[in-house]
Amino acid sequence: MKNFLTQAEKLAYNEFERTGMPLKQHIDLACETGKRLAKELGANVDIVEAGTLLMDCLIGQAIQERKLEKHIEMSLAKVNELLKKSKLSDKQKENIRHCITEHHGSDKFYSLESEICCNADCYRFISIKGFSYAMRYLREMSFDDLVNLLEKKVNEKWGLVSLDVCKHELSGQHEILEKMLGELKS
Ligand SMILES: [Fe+2]
Repeated sequence: MKNFLTQAEKLAYNEFERTGMPLKQHIDLACETGKRLAKELGANVDIVEAGTLLMDCLIGQAIQERKLEKHIEMSLAKVNELLKKSKLSDKQKENIRHCITEHHGSDKFYSLESEICCNADCYRFISIKGFSYAMRYLREMSFDDLVNLLEKKVNEKWGLVSLDVCKHELSGQHEILEKMLGELKS
């Protein structure tokens, strides 16, 4: 597993270097948050680490090809290449795959690990820290477009938070961000 995690981190950081997305700060934020939640909730920390590193690994490529809606499919294909060469068990591989495919939510999550990945992703936009990284580093667009994008992301991600602990941690921050966005748009 250690070897696989090294490769997952390398892929995630290389894609950031190559395409600028996801932001390195957002990769690290989701990964650290996911690992913390996994420890708190008794989930497998390594699976969550792999999932959070890889869930959006090809989003930069998808954006360049103007097919953002395909980023999960594309990331999964890339992850399958890595998994094929790894020595992980079938059970571990299946769990990691679901961390990718369910990271934008699911009616019924395959595992606690995949639910944690989905919730950790939300911290990229509805924690004050994640939102601020987006404000500072997503700069290749006009300010109005950035505010509109962030508003969309904040609404989308708030709707995906499913774990009580995350709702508790994020509700106050989400309220502040909603107020900020309201002022920015007024
Ligand atoms: Fe995504």
